[in-house]
Formats: sequence, structure tokens, C-alpha cells
Amino acid sequence: MTKNTIFKCPNCKNNLIDLVEQMTCIQCGLNYPVRDRIPILLLEEAAGQYGDKNIDYTITAHKQEVKDGYTNVAKSIEQSGMQDNVYFLNLGYAPDDNPQYAVHDVPLTAINKNSVKLILETIGDYDFNGKDLLEVGCGRGGNIYTIHQYYEPRTTVGVDLCKANVKYCDSYLSSHNISFTVADAEKLPLEDNSFDAIVNIESSSAYTDIKSFYHNVNRILRPGGFFLYADVMENSVFDSNIQYLKSLGMEQFRYTDITTNVLLSCYQEYRKKILAYKEVEELGNKEDLEDFIGKPGSKIYNNMKSGRKSYRIYNLRKQQ
Ligand SMILES: C[S@@+](CC[C@H](N)C(=O)[O-])C[C@H]1O[C@@H](n2cnc3c(N)ncnc32)[C@H](O)[C@@H]1O
Repeated sequence: MTKNTIFKCPNCKNNLIDLVEQMTCIQCGLNYPVRDRIPILLLEEAAGQYGDKNIDYTITAHKQEVKDGYTNVAKSIEQSGMQDNVYFLNLGYAPDDNPQYAVHDVPLTAINKNSVKLILETIGDYDFNGKDLLEVGCGRGGNIYTIHQYYEPRTTVGVDLCKANVKYCDSYLSSHNISFTVADAEKLPLEDNSFDAIVNIESSSAYTDIKSFYHNVNRILRPGGFFLYADVMENSVFDSNIQYLKSLGMEQFRYTDITTNVLLSCYQEYRKKILAYKEVEELGNKEDLEDFIGKPGSKIYNNMKSGRKSYRIYNLRKQQ
């Protein structure tokens, strides 16, 4: 599969022509840049091309903050010289007495063991062999890398809003059947009914309009396809979001509350993480940084500890 057969126009979902340095929609004519071989399929990148069309090119202030925040994180990892040690951007999972669902052990030699464990727990016994896999919010590619250590998906696509993250993924993971694009989870440039599994780890709570993301998940999955999902949210918000997914026709296959595992992981890992992210701290985002790494005493840590927020895994399936 080439990038012009996998990726569609985020505006109208029609085919794109690959013109090497840009991709052009055959239907609405919007042009999207391709930088360092990576298609940037964001509407804001096409802004101004057809000012009079009924297209919303705007990006919310919150989304811009998310983009800038992760760009700073990427810079900090580079500047601390840890770029080859940081493949994940999540809080991780440390085993305790809770039941575990992973069917594979974390390799003893794994770097970022708690994050490897988190993806293995999230996917449980799902078998990716021969399947078409999409990860939305793929960060630095650790989840896709891990899945490919155990399975041979037919094709894999990684999508993230942050160019620096996607560039890093592309530098060590791209192959004949693994492709990446910069795109928005709320406007995924992918065809209806085209993937067997969608993975989404600790990303969705950053989305401006989570319902649009859920619509995209339901649209892109094939009937019977799996949504392998983990995130941290306020309990009532989580409950109503899952209700919303069910109202779209997704059935719940598994639910596990892993808050205590994530708290334990935060406690085990935060000192190591501070070393990788010290440059972000120097840029003046101390509180955001402490939240991002789940430092004990941070807002996110306290919210999980007090029970206001929970970190949960859901496996949902689109109806046949
Ligand atoms: C906490 S990180 C987790 C990354 C990865 N899932 C992991 O487990 O390591 C959240 C990721 O979601 C991405 N993200 C946030 N908002 C997004 C959006 N609207 N569309 C696509 N990706 C988004 C961020 O750029 C970031 O890479």
C-alpha cells in the first residue's frame, strides 16, 4: 500500500494524488504539504487556498497548545540526549494484585518496561496477525513497535497531531507496511470500514471534540473491528463517553480499571522522566510537566489517588 492509497482528504475523504512534495485531493482540490516524506493532512495546512469554501480551517487554542506542548517535549528529549531511550509518552502500568490480561511478558531487556506493559495490558489477547492496524495519537511509536515485536499486522498506520513525534516514528519504524501521517484524531484522513483494530492510549482526553473522534473510530473500523482503548478521565466523563460509543453501535468487550497500576508506575518512573524533560521545565511549564510525567503530588496524580479520575482500559467492538 502506498500513501496515496491509504490516506484520504481530511475534508471530503476523497482520494489524494501524491505529487511528492504535496498531496492534492482529486475532489475538492485542497493541497497538503509532504515534509520529510510525511504527509501533513491537517486542514489548517490547507487554509487560505479556497477562502470562500465552507470549510472550517480553524484550529482551537487548546489544540494549538497541545501541538506546541508535545513539540517542546520532543525538543527536550533531543536536548537531554535521551532520544533513543524514550519511545513512549504515557504514564505506564506497574503490576499489583489487579487481574492482568496481557498474553505476552514484557522482555527483560525492554526500555520503558511500564509502558510496554501498558500496551500489552490494553491489547489483552487481541491477535493482530494479518490485520490492518491504526494507532491514533501514536506519540513516539512505542506502541506500534511493541505490537510488531509480537505480531505481524498486514498494514499499520500511525497518526499524531505533532509533527516532531511523527518524524521520530518515521525515522525508525517506517517500512513497506508501516506508514505515518500528521493528522487530527477528530478529522482522520482514512477511508470508512478500512481497519480491523484501532489503538488509542492516553491521547483522547486531549481532544477538543472527543465525540468527533468516536465517530471517526466507528466510521473507520470494519464491522466486528476492535477499539483497544486506554485513558485517564474524570469518572463521570468516562462513563458518559463510553455510553456515547455504545450509542454509536460499539459493544463493550472488556473493561478494566488500572488506576492503582498507573499510580504505582508514576511513583516508580517520575525521577527517571524528569531527566528527559528538564528542558520543558526550563521553558517554564513546571506544573504541566509534573502532570505529564505523573509526579506524585501533581494534579493528575492526586486526582487518580483521590478517585476523582480513573485510568481505564476498554476493548470495544463495532457491531458485525
Ligand atoms: C500522552 S501522549 C501518548 C502517546 C502514545 N499514545 C503513547 O502511549 O506513548 C498523547 C499523544 O496524543 C497526541 N495528540 C493529542 N491530540 C491529538 C489529536 N487531536 N490528534 C492526534 N493526536 C493527538 C499528542 O501529540 C501525543 O503524541
